Amino acid sequence: MSDEIWLSARDLERWLGEEDSRVHALRGVSLDLEPGSVHAVVGPSGCGKSTLLYILGLLDQADGGSLTIAGHLIAGLPDDELARKRNELLGFIFQFHFLLEDFTAQENIMVPMRRLGRLTESEMMTRAASLLDEVGLGSKLHRPSRHLSGGEQQRVAIARALANDPRVILADEPTGNLDTANAERAFRLLQQIVREERKALLLVTHNPAIAEACDWIHEMKDGVIIGSHPHGSPARGGSFTYR
Ligand SMILES: Nc1ncnc2c1ncn2[C@@H]1O[C@H](COP(=O)(O)OP(=O)(O)O)[C@@H](O)[C@H]1O
Ligand SMILES: [Mg+2]
Repeated sequence: MSDEIWLSARDLERWLGEEDSRVHALRGVSLDLEPGSVHAVVGPSGCGKSTLLYILGLLDQADGGSLTIAGHLIAGLPDDELARKRNELLGFIFQFHFLLEDFTAQENIMVPMRRLGRLTESEMMTRAASLLDEVGLGSKLHRPSRHLSGGEQQRVAIARALANDPRVILADEPTGNLDTANAERAFRLLQQIVREERKALLLVTHNPAIAEACDWIHEMKDGVIIGSHPHGSPARGGSFTYR
């Protein structure tokens, strides 16, 4: 098993919709995510960003191409095996965080741990507490998530994405419903954790400041990546369509 690439996608294809109105949503997308790297996907609405994230996140299956996550080739697996790989290898952060609002911060973080079923109740509680510490919410362990601010809720969502120590974190506009200061704070936190813990992060964003801070920007259009630009590349700087 190669530990050099956490996620490798080759020539992914996806068709969506009914017979008479089929959309070629992905038309051959390839991508490599290395440990410790942060990647942004940008592009206009409808270009296939969410479709790509769903496939990389094992929430949907491609019609063509191949996907390898942490050395595991994801092909022809039954649903329960896909779910296991998803719980084990991947973390998710969404724009609308989908926390259980009557659950405390700590309980929310234990949800994915419970699903994976590897830890005892007290081990889960300890791990959730230490993850909340890591995102600066150590004092709000027992607070129901509906009583947290938007920025705090998104930090709980970050901690929850880390719950099962995934290799890859996928985020669809993770900071989309936060104000600028909270968006950048949440992003910096995520970026720091990803680098220190040698995970890989792929995020869809419309926020130019966040995209520009990533190691790579992948520019999507009409179901393909039309350009991949490393940090500091002269091709970058305001020329992309972020919306
Ligand atoms: N369930 C679906 N059925 C049919 N077409 C879909 C479905 N989901 C998305 N699409 C189409 O696929 C294309 C890509 O969508 P999406 O991945 O959501 O784009 P983005 O996230 O970049 O806005 C769009 O043309 C969209 O209308
Ligand atoms: Mg989308």
